[in-house]
This record gives sequence, structure tokens and C-alpha cells, in this order.
Amino acid sequence: DTVESVIVAIDGPAGTGKSSTSKAVAAQLGLSYLDTGAQYRAITWWMISNGVDVSDPAAIATAAGKPSIVSGTDPAGPTITVDGMDASGPIRTQEVSSKVSAVSAVPEVRTLITELQRSIAATAATGIVVEGRDIGTTVLPDADLKIFLTASPEARAARRSGELKGADVAATREALIKRDAADSSRKTSPLAKADDAVEVDTTELTLQQVIECVVTLVEERRDPE
Ligand code: DC
Repeated sequence: DTVESVIVAIDGPAGTGKSSTSKAVAAQLGLSYLDTGAQYRAITWWMISNGVDVSDPAAIATAAGKPSIVSGTDPAGPTITVDGMDASGPIRTQEVSSKVSAVSAVPEVRTLITELQRSIAATAATGIVVEGRDIGTTVLPDADLKIFLTASPEARAARRSGELKGADVAATREALIKRDAADSSRKTSPLAKADDAVEVDTTELTLQQVIECVVTLVEERRDPE
């Protein structure tokens, strides 16, 4: 008998531990891993590098189909390329972080990236953990398990500042809050918890505890007693 493939959607705002959790869960369970935020960052990086005015939604819409974005889904070493170039470094700059919400709010961008995400999920042999903002609500509404991660703004800012090595916590907090507000209020598939998602507040949990919690939930869905 072949083990049925399992689709896990992990959504939530920035700094809740989505990426670390998703990668670890995928690695432990032998699943593929897809960082959808990296795809929106990659298209944003391409727009900036190619002189597209990212304050102009019409210009973004026109250019949306031009770059070729390819994601490698091994949780031990996920990759992202744009037109064959490694984009993993440049997509993490502050410039990209500050512009990605505007680019990802454009419906043409979302349609293209959503199609890409669905095709990647459909071809993952054993299954996949997909992390983002609208995975449970829009991209994969039939996912076997949907998780919505939350944490206090203070905890999220502290985690992000740690990642950015020495970044100012207060400034990081303001930037995160601004980005979440933009992502939650956009018209097309905003950041939102799906009705059937399990909400996990990670404020008081260690990363290891969050991972264990999600792994247990996946195993319950896989082999319901
Ligand atoms: O997960 P992240 O912080 O790298 O995501 C970057 C941005 O991409 C986020 O601010 C909004 C956008 N995004 C989105 O609109 N939909 C997703 N499924 C994932 C990310």
C-alpha cells in the first residue's frame, strides 16, 4: 500500500515561526516544503531590478507574467530562482520586505503565483507543507490540515529582530505591523484564518513545542483512529 499524500497549509502573519515550523515539520514527516512568501518576494525583487514602478498596480499587472519563478521544495535546502538566478539572498532585503505587500496585492500577480503553487502541491509525491497567508483560504482550500499561527506583536518583532541580527526591535515591530495591516486589508485573498483552521498561539511556546504540536496534528489527520 502506498501512503496517501498529505497537504498541510500553514498561514499567519510575519514572525510567528511559520517558516521554521513548516520546514521542520516537512523534514520530520518526509514531505516537500513550499515558502509562498519567497515567491512573492522573488517577483517583487524582479520588479525592482527591472525598473517597474511598484507604486503603480497597472505596471505591476502588465509585468507580472514576465519573470520565471522556480521553487525547490526540499525542506533541508529550499531554493528560489528568478529567470535562472539564485534569488534567496536578495529577496530578504529590507527594500523587498517594504515593497512586497504592494506587489502581492495585485490580482494578476496573485493569480499567476497561485497557479504555480497549486501545480507544485499537485506534483508533490508524498505531500507538502505550504506556508503563507492565504493557503488555507484560497490556494488549497481542500488541504488535509490547516494551521493558523499567531503570536503577540512583541514576540513577533523580537523574533524577526533576532533573525535580522541587531535590527532595532521597535522599528521591526512597526514595519511588521504595517505589513500585516496591508496584507490583512487587501481585497484579493487577504491574510485570514480559514474557518476550519487550527489556531496555534506561539507567544509562549518554544519552536520545538510548535513543531511537535503540528506534527501530532498531521499524524492524527493521516491515521484517524
Ligand atoms: O512570509 P513572508 O513574510 O516572506 O511573506 C512576504 C509577503 O508576501 C507578505 O508580506 C505578503 C505576501 N504573501 C502573500 O500575499 N500571500 C502568501 N501566501 C504569502 C506571502
